[in-house]
This record gives sequence, C-alpha cells and structure tokens, in this order.
Amino acid sequence: MSNVHLIDHPLVQHKLTLMRRKDASTNSFRRLLNELALLMTYEVTRDLPMQDIEIETPLETMTAKVVDGKKLVFVSILRAGNGILEGMLNVVPGARVGHIGLYRDPKTLTAVEYYFKMPSDMHERDVIVVDPMLATGNSAIAAIDRLKETRPKSIKFVCLLTCPEGLAAMAKSHPDVPIYTAAIDRQLNEHGYILPGLGDAGDRIFGTK
Ligand code: URA
Repeated sequence: MSNVHLIDHPLVQHKLTLMRRKDASTNSFRRLLNELALLMTYEVTRDLPMQDIEIETPLETMTAKVVDGKKLVFVSILRAGNGILEGMLNVVPGARVGHIGLYRDPKTLTAVEYYFKMPSDMHERDVIVVDPMLATGNSAIAAIDRLKETRPKSIKFVCLLTCPEGLAAMAKSHPDVPIYTAAIDRQLNEHGYILPGLGDAGDRIFGTK
C-alpha cells in the first residue's frame, strides 16, 4: 500500500482521539476537524511544485519560491466533506472548490450522484478530494470516476479515517490515486460504518442527530 500515507503526527492523532469520543460536542467535533484538516493539508501539499520568482525585500532583491501552476482544487464530497474544507482553505485560501453530491443507497450501499460542480480548466489543475470517512469506498470511487472525466493533472484523496475494505476497494478502482489518512481502523460493520470509527461524520459535524 505504497499509495497510502498514514499521517501519524502526534497532534493529528491526539485530535482524532478527542473527536472519536462519543461525548465530544458538535462544537468541539467541528473545531477539531477544522484543526485536523489544516494539519493534514500541510502533509498532502508537501510535494507541490514550486517556481522561483524575483522579489524585493525592504533591503534587496532576491529570488524566492512560490507555488507553481494554476490554483489547486479542493473537491468536497457532500455533505461531510464540507467539514474539512474550512481548515484546508485556511492554509490555501486561494484554492478553488468543487462539490460532488453523492448519497449512499441504504440498501445497496452504492453511491448515487445528485450534484456535480467543478471550476473551469480542470485539465490544468491538481485536485484534492476530501471526505472524512473512506468506508466501503463506493462514494470515493464514484466521485473519482466522475472527476477523471474532467482530466485533472492529478488527484489525491484525503480522509480522516479508513479501513482495510475501503483501501482495498480504492486500490482496485483507482490505484493511481494517493490516499492520505489519519488512521486505518479495524473493519466495516454490516451497515457500512467503520469500527471503532467515530460514528456518522456528517451528523457529528452538523449536529443532525
Ligand atoms: N460514513 C460515516 O460517516 N461513518 C462511517 O463510519 C462510515 C461512513
């Protein structure tokens, strides 16, 4: 699984543990997710291409580095992906944002698309897809299938938590897409939830249960 990047930084792990606790309030869950997203963005953007430009400091001219190319695109898989966006935009405020609406059919657990909106010039952009939970992999796979039709330069996938089943499904359908996660949990249950996990990420972010 050379394509899987486990972000085991102590701050990431500490915050994730606080989020998993069932007594974490909506407020603290959302705040922690925001902080975690910021830290994970730091890792996932580590290999962004750079270019040299000439600038003037108050004292002299120098050659300095800036990120090269068109603005990154963060693609949120609705609705839980939106919980990660704010933290990511704090670090990369100029990023463009795309949305993919997919719901999980409760019987078949397959992903059904209801919304798709991307920035222009996708073929010139690097894309980071975000969804807190990579569980069955069905939503991520469907989202990436659809995104590949827009021919972006590259695609990475960021989640908080995943499990062996989700990683295997992604490796089969999209072996070219690197996955960044803060944890690989034990397994899925019969309802497609990750164990031990953190419950329903959307409900916990938005306080809908
Ligand atoms: N989606 C969630 O929100 N939680 C899981 O455990 C799996 C999928």
